Amino acid sequence: MINDIELKPYLTEDEIQEKIKELGAKLNNIYSNEELYLVCVLKGAVMFAADLSKVLTMPLKMEFIRLSSYGTGTTSTGKVNAVDITLPDLNDKNVLIVEDIIDTGHTAKFLVDFINHNFHTKSLKFCSLLDKKVKREVDIDADYYCFDVDDKFLVGYGLDYEGYFRNLPFIGYV
Ligand code: IMP
Ligand code: MG
Repeated sequence: MINDIELKPYLTEDEIQEKIKELGAKLNNIYSNEELYLVCVLKGAVMFAADLSKVLTMPLKMEFIRLSSYGTGTTSTGKVNAVDITLPDLNDKNVLIVEDIIDTGHTAKFLVDFINHNFHTKSLKFCSLLDKKVKREVDIDADYYCFDVDDKFLVGYGLDYEGYFRNLPFIGYV
């Protein structure tokens, strides 16, 4: 039973919200009053994108795409599955991709390549709540991120184990 799994706390709700406010202030400065397209990568980034968007003050449009890379369990397959990658015309737009975590980096690389292949954006940046640098297999870095994390399988605040735990307001590990 999923309810029998005991989670150890890793990042508290307050720590997460505090960092998001800091990042939001930074982005408000960087983009100033320029229009921004925030591209939320479902399902994992749902909480982060929602909370981040609430502290952004520029004219903002939110887009949602859906990818999957983890098959089952806790090891990355390295293969990216584009479930739904419908996007509007992003030519000459400022685009910010919002992810939950960069692990191997395959998902991030796939997305950046996909957008660059299909559009000539005004700017394209990658923003991730978490950065698990020790697991990187692809040479890619987040332009902005909130936390460096250890090599643990993390759940909560959008991150799941077999579909569960996304609803937790904090992040923990098994
Ligand atoms: P990457 O392509 O290996 O960088 O993996 C990125 C995706 O794998 C993320 O968007 C997450 O959905 C998932 N993922 C990576 N690490 C974790 C974790 O520790 N917990 C839950 N999901 C993870
Ligand atoms: Mg994800």
